[in-house]
Amino acid sequence: MAGHLGCYNIADLRDRAKRRLPLGIWEYAERGVEDETGMARNRAAFDRITFRPRVLRRVDRIDTSVSIFGQPTPMPLALAPTGAAGLLWHNGDLALARAAAAAGLPFTISSASTLDVDVIASAGGRLWFQLYLWEDRSLSMAVVDHAAELGCEALFVTLDMAVPPNREYIHRNGFGTPFTLNARNTIDVLTHPRWLAGVMGRYMLSGGIPTQANLPDRLRTKVTKGAPPGALFKQDDLDWDGIRELRDRWKGRLILKGILHPADAEQALAAGADGVVVSNHGGRALDSSVATIDALPDIVRAVGGKMTIFLDSGIRRGSDIVKARALGADAVLAGRAPLYGLAAAGEAGVARALELLRAETARTMAMLGTRNFAEVADALAD
Ligand SMILES: Cc1cc2nc3c(=O)[nH]c(=O)nc-3n(C[C@H](O)[C@H](O)[C@H](O)COP(=O)(O)O)c2cc1C
Repeated sequence: MAGHLGCYNIADLRDRAKRRLPLGIWEYAERGVEDETGMARNRAAFDRITFRPRVLRRVDRIDTSVSIFGQPTPMPLALAPTGAAGLLWHNGDLALARAAAAAGLPFTISSASTLDVDVIASAGGRLWFQLYLWEDRSLSMAVVDHAAELGCEALFVTLDMAVPPNREYIHRNGFGTPFTLNARNTIDVLTHPRWLAGVMGRYMLSGGIPTQANLPDRLRTKVTKGAPPGALFKQDDLDWDGIRELRDRWKGRLILKGILHPADAEQALAAGADGVVVSNHGGRALDSSVATIDALPDIVRAVGGKMTIFLDSGIRRGSDIVKARALGADAVLAGRAPLYGLAAAGEAGVARALELLRAETARTMAMLGTRNFAEVADALAD
């Protein structure tokens, strides 16, 4: 079990992460887009949902386990793909993957990760791979084939970024690609010596922070350099034919991430997908999009029981996980919650975040008088 690190909930880990990170890195990991109403709406929608608990139900044995893709999983939680985890902690992707493997939870490798996928995969455990399509589609296909060779169980294709999102603070902070130093971010970095030495310093010793680490060697660059031609993500010309092409190529589970409309979920099913992630990218894509927990019931009505339904965006408490399950999601993904742990204390911090979510989930179930997830469907107040 992870040490408590003086952190007793995800918000404590968030506070510690914020203190450790330079502002530019913190804002990249934490913020949404435009006026950030989407992030607030995700949280408000969870908070509006209430339970009607039962008593005297012998809750001395709580079973939080579920089945995901037919495999037993200790709880309905997986780690969402988060590119640039390596900026929060040295080789952050590996720390996330190791903590996930130790907790028995699946980890999703991001196609925007800064660490070689082979190194991430050395963590073992249950690995999923997230895909953004590069402008040169043959690169994407090569990456997909490599993910299969590594034994990744599922391919998550992220669809809610058809065009780059409007993250104004990234430009203000000089945090675009290429990453450029300016007066503001130089002082910012210099006033966070622990990050400078522990993260940036360690990369500098090995020749700089890599980017596009998933690409073939010849196309890899450093975050301080622009991307070579064809090696930029580009999905504005993607349509259902593109998904069918991926379906033909990828033999494992295929999941479409960033689905909010039931008609799209039905089309995903028709295209041969095995699941969807009801997601608005944690409020980082379209600011005015519906809260995911509000979008979930229609999608469950459309495709529930016919494909695996994941939900993400705003998971901060075990009670959020129970609410998502009660409304018909099979499992949730958490993005920022483990990232806060990562930035706070590396692998031990991620382990702490996962342990907090597990303990809160079990406690919520006991308080509700539900001993397993089959029973939680009846726990909502209305
Ligand atoms: C710093 C950061 C990087 C992310 N990078 C990716 C990515 O590379 N690919 C992707 O599909 N989603 C990415 N996401 C979105 C997450 O997979 C997930 O949908 C989102 O974080 C869920 O919301 P939450 O952070 O409130 O849990 C990223 C999110 C964050 C916070």
